[in-house]
Amino acid sequence: MREVTTPEDMRAWSRAERARGRRIGFVPTMGFLHQGHLRLVDRARERVDRVVLSIFVNPLQFGPTEDFAAYPRDLGRDRRLAADRGVDCLFLPETTALYPSDPLVRVAPGPMADTLEGAARPGHFAGVLTVVAKLFHIVEPDVAVFGRKDFQRAMLVRRMAADLDFALEVDVAPTVRELDGLALSSRNTYLNGDERRAAVALSRALRAVEQAWRAGEADPKALERRGMAVLNAPGVTPEYLALVDDQLRAVARADARTVVAIAARVGATRLIDNVVLGEGVASDDAVRT
Ligand code: PAF
Repeated sequence: MREVTTPEDMRAWSRAERARGRRIGFVPTMGFLHQGHLRLVDRARERVDRVVLSIFVNPLQFGPTEDFAAYPRDLGRDRRLAADRGVDCLFLPETTALYPSDPLVRVAPGPMADTLEGAARPGHFAGVLTVVAKLFHIVEPDVAVFGRKDFQRAMLVRRMAADLDFALEVDVAPTVRELDGLALSSRNTYLNGDERRAAVALSRALRAVEQAWRAGEADPKALERRGMAVLNAPGVTPEYLALVDDQLRAVARADARTVVAIAARVGATRLIDNVVLGEGVASDDAVRT
């Protein structure tokens, strides 16, 4: 596995590979890799000849009350996992390499970022899209793979790529779940034993909405109430449960393409999850971690 740290070396590596006729797949991450990230690597591998994985904890996407310094990091372990999974190039830029000065020009995410996670984390998606745009320009991939667990982020990246004419495909991969249904996330490491057990309420609430919809209920308000009744479990503080379309707009009637998006605090940890009603939680990948 090749390791590069500067944007210049990264771009040179990508261009040399493309000059040999190879297609490049890209998995951007903030590190602390888990099976969810590694499945994105597998998915990229199925589509392309070379896979680049970046690890960069992006200060721009952390709010003033969110602890950038406390974000979990373990570069030694990440290196081993990436190499074992067959990553061809690991891109590890320093903050000063991506942001030599405070970027005055940033990507404005527009109205799709005003709701759900964007409402709870003002400025977050401007920070995400700005770094993703920079990484796309540096890596120049043919395909970039994002997990569907961060549904709003994936839809915003897809929309940015379309609206700003990035010459690449944004592929969105199924959520990877633990056997009891909890969606994999680097944040799960913050949960203690009781919190970990309580956290299963998120995927249970999604299943409850899905089951009610399959039984014939299509009224979003009724489905929200059904899901909230399950989400409101001991140790869990619900933040939202919303039924939206792929542009993050509230739906008037639930159908197979409707996304149920959920956020809740379990202890001090904020978790998110979602399901597309027609696909269902059971269609996601399950792993034992
Ligand atoms: O969640 C992430 O991994 C980040 O938002 C991303 C896409 C790598 C941008 O920093």
